[in-house]
Amino acid sequence: MAIHLPWFLLFFLLSHVRTSPATSLNSTFSFNGFQPSDLSLSGFATVISTGALQLTNGQRTMNLPGITGQAFYPAILQFKKGPSATTTRSFSTHFLFEIVSKDQKPGGHGFAFVLAPSTNFCSASGGPFLGFVNQSNNVNPNNHIFAVEFDTVQQVDLEDRDGNHVGIDVNGVISNTSESAAYYTELNKKETVLLDSQTPIQAWIEYDGKGKQLNVTIAPLSHPLKPTRSLISYSIDLSPILLEHMYVGFSSGTQKLFSKHYILAWSFTMEGKAQELDLSRLPSVPRDRTPLGKSLKLYLYLSVALVIILFLIITISICYWTHKKSKLTSEKVEEWEMDYPHRFPYRELYRATKGFKEELGKGGFGSVYKGVLPRSGMEVAVKKVSHSSKQGIREFVAEVSSLGRMRHRNLVQLQGWCRRGEELLLAYEFMPKGSLDSHLFGIRRKSLSWEQRFKIVKGIASGLLYLHEEWEQVVVHRDVKASNVLLDGDLNGRLGDFGLSRLYEHGTNPKTTKIVGSFGYMAPELSRTCKFTTSSDVYSYGALLLEMACGRRPIEPERPCDEMILVELVHSLWKGGRILDAMDNKLGNSYVVEEAELVLKLGVLCSQAAPESRPNMRQLTQFLNGGASLQDLECHNIVIQDDPGMDQLILQYSSSAILSSTSGNSGS
Ligand SMILES: *[C@@H]1O[C@H](CO)[C@@H](O)[C@H](O)[C@H]1NC(C)=O
Ligand SMILES: *[C@@H]1O[C@H](CO)[C@@H](O)[C@H](O)[C@H]1NC(C)=O
Ligand SMILES: *[C@@H]1O[C@H](CO)[C@@H](O)[C@H](O)[C@H]1NC(C)=O
Ligand SMILES: *[C@@H]1O[C@H](CO)[C@@H](O)[C@H](O)[C@H]1NC(C)=O
Repeated sequence: MAIHLPWFLLFFLLSHVRTSPATSLNSTFSFNGFQPSDLSLSGFATVISTGALQLTNGQRTMNLPGITGQAFYPAILQFKKGPSATTTRSFSTHFLFEIVSKDQKPGGHGFAFVLAPSTNFCSASGGPFLGFVNQSNNVNPNNHIFAVEFDTVQQVDLEDRDGNHVGIDVNGVISNTSESAAYYTELNKKETVLLDSQTPIQAWIEYDGKGKQLNVTIAPLSHPLKPTRSLISYSIDLSPILLEHMYVGFSSGTQKLFSKHYILAWSFTMEGKAQELDLSRLPSVPRDRTPLGKSLKLYLYLSVALVIILFLIITISICYWTHKKSKLTSEKVEEWEMDYPHRFPYRELYRATKGFKEELGKGGFGSVYKGVLPRSGMEVAVKKVSHSSKQGIREFVAEVSSLGRMRHRNLVQLQGWCRRGEELLLAYEFMPKGSLDSHLFGIRRKSLSWEQRFKIVKGIASGLLYLHEEWEQVVVHRDVKASNVLLDGDLNGRLGDFGLSRLYEHGTNPKTTKIVGSFGYMAPELSRTCKFTTSSDVYSYGALLLEMACGRRPIEPERPCDEMILVELVHSLWKGGRILDAMDNKLGNSYVVEEAELVLKLGVLCSQAAPESRPNMRQLTQFLNGGASLQDLECHNIVIQDDPGMDQLILQYSSSAILSSTSGNSGS
């Protein structure tokens, strides 16, 4: 108030200077939007950027004086010809207003068109007092205020008729007369107008100075013409109320309730009809006015859209994943496959290995994965074998599925097979202790005692015997070697991979060498005949025997020439009468001499160049189990290596530089 008072005095003086009767006689103005305009604004009134006049901005307070805002035409106007004139001049005003409340709750309080002797309302209250009087000066005859109120709250103590009314106010906010907001149509039908509707509403206030009659008319913008019948037509003599000079403008007040009161356009004419307003150029009111009905719809649309989008995303991703998964596990089963037993669906093996996750190792024919069969819970090793020839696969499947019927404690049991395109999957019993190879030369080195070695050697012999002689047909293993001997939980030797090399023999891939076997284990006659026989298996088994006893590989190119080929070394030691020197150093002296000699000698016997000289598996098992004796064996009659083909074989299979450079000497 301390700030407002000097300003007010200054303004008051200025106004008085400006309001000489000559200038105030011309009292016609109109505003289509208020930018630019030099309205006299006070309280919270402001002209917003769109050009709308905002009387109150929606702030709220619990207590009076509340929030007020006033806007007046800057010039004071002459309403009476002399201070004591008994008539006032006629006047006419037309304006558009818009009240914005929140959340469809009733806003408050309202605003008023005001004629007042001054523009100082700094001690007026908001809320029900509409920013132009206060509790103590309400209806005080000294106020000289005339107002038309547009009230959106029913204040019972102020005799309001309802919460949506238009009233004629003299000196205060207790209306001399009031009507619920409405307009009359051309057919004289009364239509309610919701003041608080957040849409522009037109108002006309006309006073006939001679007839002392005041007409108030309102209409929504949807009814652009002024209704012919007024809402209020009230006989009132304004001459005792109005002073000679009065300000004309608007006042508004809020308190606990949220409302923003806007005047969009305004025209005023003294002694004449107010100018028409340009309804096509009304300033807009900020977007936060979005009524709840609309925003509710918007929210609804948004959430529906969101739900649809989410649904689509979920559906698409489900489709994608199931498609991907089904593509991963799909298989085309050909008719012939159904004829063979032990067939697994690809899906089952895929699931068992969790998508081929845990690789146990890479064998000669492909990678091996660990898995657990979902139905039986059995641990398996799944071997993935790629093959380009369908024909080969078919024949092999025929063989494999029949091999599936083999049962022997020294064979790794085939549990089932599955073909998917050119890929063949073989599920074997899982061997927890891994391959013999890894025990002899790999990570598990030094863990095998002589007793264990001897047991393994006997086991493998028994397995081979089963393949060669005891099963319904003769099966040649073709690839007996340390890495194909697997150890079960009790360290029993078990032969794996039998028959696999057959697949490649049938194969038509020209890049694949016709003979698949392992270097150092291959009988020399194979380089000539390319024909695997039980005695070529025996040759390989002999190499395995020597390997087990000596703890080294059949051929070690990095050794001196006379030690490079194990068979020759053992043979020459035997001839020199000190065969046990060949024994694995790691064993020290902890082995049974008779057994060690037996194994070494049998190894040499199996390695004879002539297939027919080699013992068969039945004889070998008899020797190993002590059922036959080697006593009178003459080592000098044994021909180990007279085959010039061996050199070629070495050359043929040598891939490393060391091997090929030393192989020239090896045949001697
Ligand atoms: C009054 O002012 C309006 C413009 O504001 C002007 O057009 C009109 O001629 C003026 N009339 C008199 C009598 O000065
Ligand atoms: C009410 O308004 C009058 C005149 O503006 C002022 O003198 C008075 O102090 C005000 N009363 C209150 C309670 O604000
Ligand atoms: C109506 O206005 C007159 C002044 O013109 C006043 O004296 C009277 O008390 C008012 N009537 C009501 C009902 O407020
Ligand atoms: C007010 O309304 C009455 C009745 O509708 C009409 O006769 C009168 O001319 C109007 N007065 C003004 C100033 O429009």
